[in-house]
Formats: sequence, structure tokens, C-alpha cells
Amino acid sequence: MNKTKKNCYGICFLISIAINILLSIYLYAGGGRWGAKNLPEISFRPALTWSEKAAAEAEAVAAISCSGHGRAFLDGSISDQGQPVCECYDCYGGTDCSERSPGCAADADSGDPIFLEPFWMQNAAESSIVIPGWHRMSYRYEDNTMMSVELEKYIRKLHSIVGNAITEGRYMVFGIGSSQLLSAAVYALSSENSSSPSNVLATIPFYPMYKAQPMLFNSENFQFKGDTNSWQSYNSTNNIDVIEFVTSPNNPDGELKKSVIGRKTIYDHAYFWPHFTPITGPSDHDLMIFTLSKLTGHAGARFGYAQVSLFHLCLTLARYYTYDTIIYRWAIIKDKDVYEKVLNYIFLADLGISKDTQLRVLKLLKVAIEGDGKPLFEFAYNKMRERWEMLTFVFSRSTRFSIQKRHPLHCNFFNKTRQSSPAYAWVKCEREEDDDCSAVLEAGKIISRRGSQFSADDRYTRLSLIKSQDDFELLLQRLRELVSLENDSIGTM
Ligand SMILES: Cc1ncc(COP(=O)(O)O)c(C=O)c1O
Ligand SMILES: *[C@@H]1O[C@H](CO)[C@@H](O)[C@H](O)[C@H]1NC(C)=O
Ligand SMILES: *[C@@H]1O[C@H](CO)[C@@H](O)[C@H](O)[C@H]1NC(C)=O
Ligand SMILES: *[C@@H]1O[C@H](CO)[C@@H](O)[C@H](O)[C@H]1NC(C)=O
Ligand SMILES: *[C@@H]1O[C@H](CO)[C@@H](O)[C@H](O)[C@H]1NC(C)=O
Repeated sequence: MNKTKKNCYGICFLISIAINILLSIYLYAGGGRWGAKNLPEISFRPALTWSEKAAAEAEAVAAISCSGHGRAFLDGSISDQGQPVCECYDCYGGTDCSERSPGCAADADSGDPIFLEPFWMQNAAESSIVIPGWHRMSYRYEDNTMMSVELEKYIRKLHSIVGNAITEGRYMVFGIGSSQLLSAAVYALSSENSSSPSNVLATIPFYPMYKAQPMLFNSENFQFKGDTNSWQSYNSTNNIDVIEFVTSPNNPDGELKKSVIGRKTIYDHAYFWPHFTPITGPSDHDLMIFTLSKLTGHAGARFGYAQVSLFHLCLTLARYYTYDTIIYRWAIIKDKDVYEKVLNYIFLADLGISKDTQLRVLKLLKVAIEGDGKPLFEFAYNKMRERWEMLTFVFSRSTRFSIQKRHPLHCNFFNKTRQSSPAYAWVKCEREEDDDCSAVLEAGKIISRRGSQFSADDRYTRLSLIKSQDDFELLLQRLRELVSLENDSIGTM
């Protein structure tokens, strides 16, 4: 009896030494896999207590496969048997999403960026977070602001890796998606004189929100006034106040747009990432808006940010144009003023944005900058390139439909000349009688977003290329079917 006890102690002692050695190796060598360069590894106790149950719940739901054609979520419905219910992708049904409805239309309407979902599933361990019940209950952070300092640091780091925006000497404001910042920016740039309200303009085809938001707010200080090109012809009064939306790359056609009027501008850079366009150099404008939605694909997190003004550049300029210092001093004050107005808008509208979201975004961006951004951006670009190759092939056999021309440019991020691979195909119906292109596609079981939604002609329509793989494959199939009918119908005409 005594002997077995001693043996047992001996074995336990050896096991304990072995575990210690293994843990040390893990912490000092294995842990360095992620830790060394960018991510300081937080030391953790191997025994979990309160997070164990939540982790088990999260993994149990994630393990439900839904046949690969759907997803179960922690906050989804629960079946009568107490199991989380599969939420099936379009055109799939049944309790496990295994049943495909044969005549189903391909829905290429929304810009839901689900194409990045596989990346995050591959990086589950690195990108998941645990939020305790008492996490950041306060309105404010320690420094009395509504914005995480650490998150701002990572956003700046990301831009310096990608090389798509100058962040030095600029102020940053977080918003609920970039949508909120679009209206905050218009508010901040608008005229303070209500007898001469600012004219908000955009260039056709443009993202509909630029028009819808000013119309909703119905402000005395700004009004949406339509297309920049038609505006140019009646701007005889040059001291009229203009705020121009410049979307680069543009939604819907993917063009790298520049300002037409050249006065106050709001640069919407939602798609200015290597997934969609070669990065030819850092954007350097007074007010730039970015969003997590099309960067990591987390549209549901509702996180966007605006970068305002050029404090340092103004100082540099002031040094060159010393006799003009007063003007540049004024410019400095003015730019800080814009920043404070955007901040004030977010404060009055929402008292800042969710701390839970900021925590999650921080975690996601840590993964995004891993390996100097190569894993995320290569995944995203390769996926978009592959989709464009297949799409271009289908349209190359059609005379009835055409899509926008893409331009090869040198991408500084990949250090290669590359074709753009926009988030959307901007389809034109070439036949005289096909003046409602969206309806033509709909007859071929393809749901698109009609040109008039972008204030353009209905001879055009938009197809989303950033949805799930299932959605994209069905879209291709329906397009092939439609194109294959072309020569038949010509034959019968
Ligand atoms: C050009 C452009 N800007 C802004 C947004 C809004 O994005 P979010 O509010 O999700 O950041 C979108 C969404 O599709 C967009 O296409
Ligand atoms: C406001 O705008 C009106 C009309 O353009 C102009 O006559 C007036 O001088 C402006 N007031 C100020 C304070 O700038
Ligand atoms: C409109 O105003 C801008 C800025 O002053 C000017 O460059 C442009 O030539 C004007 N366009 C017309 C058609 O007058
Ligand atoms: C970019 O590629 C060129 C040619 O392939 C190479 O000479 C150059 O060193 C590369 N630049 C960087 C920054 O890697
Ligand atoms: C239809 O005919 C044209 C001209 O002969 C040809 O170029 C095109 O590839 C054909 N399209 C399909 C889908 O077969």
C-alpha cells in the first residue's frame, strides 16, 4: 500500500515536471509564433474558470455544420429540441440546409461581404474574443473619451502596412459603420449660414446613401443637389458652397474617382483595400472615411472611422509660405474644427459607439496586420480575382451584356501590376430594347440592383460579387444560362 503511494507520488512529481517543461516551451517558443513581432502575448492561467462555459457554448454552436450551406449562431433561434437552428443561405433549406431549391433565383443584390467568412473560420483561434459580463460598463474609457486608444493605434498601423492612407497628423473619429460618418461629415463641412446652404453633390453613378441621408435630415444648412457633372454647367456663381462625395473605388462601377468640382470633399474609401483595387499610393485628403465592413467583412459589427485634416502638412506648408501664415493658421483651426464637429455629431447622436464592438474590432485588426497583412489581403484578393476571371469569361461570350472595363495598375502593397477586382460588376444591356437591364436579368432568375438606384440609367444594373461562394456559383450558373440563350434567340428573331 505504502509502496504504491510512493510510486504514485513519484509519477505525479514526474508528470508535474513534464507539464512545467512543456508549458515553458509553449510559452517561450510556441507562443512566439504570433507573439514575437506584433502581438504581446498576455500571460494566462492554464485552468479556465468562468470563461469555460461560454467557450464550450460558442464551440458547440460553431460545430454545427449546416451542411456547409448555412450557419448556426449563439443568438439564433432554438428548436423545440433545445438545439440552435441552422440559418440557411439563399436557395438552401431543411433543418440542416442540405436541400437546394432547384429553380431558385441568384440573389446578387446586397453588398454583404460574406466572401471573407472562410478566412475567419480558418483563423478562429486568433480572432475570437470572450466578453465577461462586467466588461466596460462605463460610457467612457479611462482617458475620458469614447474611443479605444489601442484600437486607434492598430488602425494607423494597418494603414501604414497597406500604404493606402496617410494617417500622421490626422484626427480619427469612430462611427456606427461608415454610414453614420457620411452624415456626420456633411454636417461638419456644411455652411453655418442657413440663407446659403451647402450643396451636396456626387458623381453618377453613386451610392444612394449620399442622397438619402441629406433628404432625411432635411437640414437648413445643406441640401443634396445631384450630379457634379450637371452642376458644373450651372455654377456661374462661384462662391456657392459645395460638398462633394468622392467614392474611390466607386460603388457601383469600381472606378478610382477624383474630385470633379475640387472644393470641400468627403472621400469615401470603403473599397480602398487590396482586395478590390491596386493600391497605387496613400490617399491624402482632408476627410477620408473607411469601414470595417468591406475590409474584414464584418458589416454586422457596424464599425467605420473617419480621418480628418492635416495638422502637420499645414505646419509644413506654413513654413514654405511664411507670409501666408495667417491663412494657414486659420486653416489649422478650421480643420480641427471639422474634427470636433464630427466628434460632436457622434456624441450627440449616440454618446459614442459600442465598447463591445471596439473590443472585437481590435482583435480582428490584430489578425489583419499579422504577417504584414499578407494572409488576409492575399486571401481576399485571390478570391476576388478568381471570381472576376470566371465572370469575365462568361461575359466575353455575350454580345447582349457587357461589364465595366478594368484597369491594370501597379499595386504598392503587393509590389506587382494587377487588375482591379471590384466588389461589383456594373452590367450594361447592349440591345436597344433591353432598356431595363435589371428586369432582363430578373427574367433570367438573377436579382440585381437597378441603375436608377445609383441615379444612373436602368440600362445598367449592379451585381454583387462579395457574397458567399454558394451565392456566387449560382450567379455564374444563371449568367451562363442567360448568355447561352443569346444565339438561339437571335436565330428565332
Ligand atoms: C461606398 C460605400 N460607402 C459606405 C458604405 C456603408 O458601409 P458601412 O455603413 O457598413 O460602413 C457602403 C456600403 O455598401 C458603400 O458601398
Ligand atoms: C449668409 O448668406 C447670405 C446669402 O448668400 C448673404 O447675403 C449673407 O451675407 C451671409 N451671412 C453671413 C454672416 O455670411
Ligand atoms: C465651375 O466652377 C469651377 C470652380 O470655380 C470652375 O473650375 C469650372 O470651370 C466652372 N464650370 C463652369 C462650366 O463654369
Ligand atoms: C518590387 O519588385 C521589384 C521587381 O520585382 C524589386 O526589384 C523590388 O525590390 C521590389 N520592391 C520591394 C519594396 O519589395
Ligand atoms: C454567339 O455567336 C457569336 C457569333 O457567332 C459568338 O462569337 C459567340 O461566342 C456565341 N455565343 C455563345 C454563347 O455561344
